[in-house]
Amino acid sequence: MRLLGVNIDHVATIRQTRRIDYPDPLEAALLCQEAGADSIVCHLREDRRHIQDLDLFRLKKRVKVKLNLEMAISNEIVDIALDVKPDQVTLVPEKREELTTEGGLDVVSQRSGIKRILKVMERSGIATSIFIDPDIRQIRASREIGAGMIELHTGSYANAKNRTQLRRRYLSLKKCAEVAKDLGLKVFAGHGLNYENIKPLVRIDAIEEYNIGHSIVSRAIFVGLARAVKDMKALLK
Ligand code: PXP
Repeated sequence: MRLLGVNIDHVATIRQTRRIDYPDPLEAALLCQEAGADSIVCHLREDRRHIQDLDLFRLKKRVKVKLNLEMAISNEIVDIALDVKPDQVTLVPEKREELTTEGGLDVVSQRSGIKRILKVMERSGIATSIFIDPDIRQIRASREIGAGMIELHTGSYANAKNRTQLRRRYLSLKKCAEVAKDLGLKVFAGHGLNYENIKPLVRIDAIEEYNIGHSIVSRAIFVGLARAVKDMKALLK
């Protein structure tokens, strides 16, 4: 059984289109937890386009499964994370103009900055994962700076245009996951995963957790959030 982290950002996205107080991402998180989610994931972006600071404090109080905060390498957000103390943070790159997190962090060229955050989080008892592209150099660099866990960006696999591309990108993810695991890293994966493209991925033993948001929240519109979470959990078996 692989673990499922449900990203609830897009519940807050709907709320923020009206700047009112519903739908409430906390209510969504509790429903996901009840339906079997192994962790709740959210991203406090610097532009606060969906999750707000207050959401984080409320989630921290009520969520019983792992709370995983995605965050940029930014002093402001680091301070908030140290205040909230989620179980885990996932360091991600962030560009204001992007629609979503488009690539992984470049650990190779930002070793010292990322290493500093790993240390700060460790001192506070917060586990840290780094979101990287499926690239052996990034995996090795993550290990070298002391990371214990990484999340492989599955966006290029999810966006493959044909079967050849899909196969190549799948094999690359598999290889990277295995290399990372052999180096002693815990391996997670996420971005662009849905009820179809998850199926081949669950056969990669080295990946222990999947973080999925958009496809689950989209399906929830038609079948409800609990059903959408349960359907994804069933595919991870
Ligand atoms: N993992 C990470 C690190 C992410 O940044 C995101 C998007 O916020 C996801 C997983 C979930 O991606 P999606 O919404 O495409 O399922």
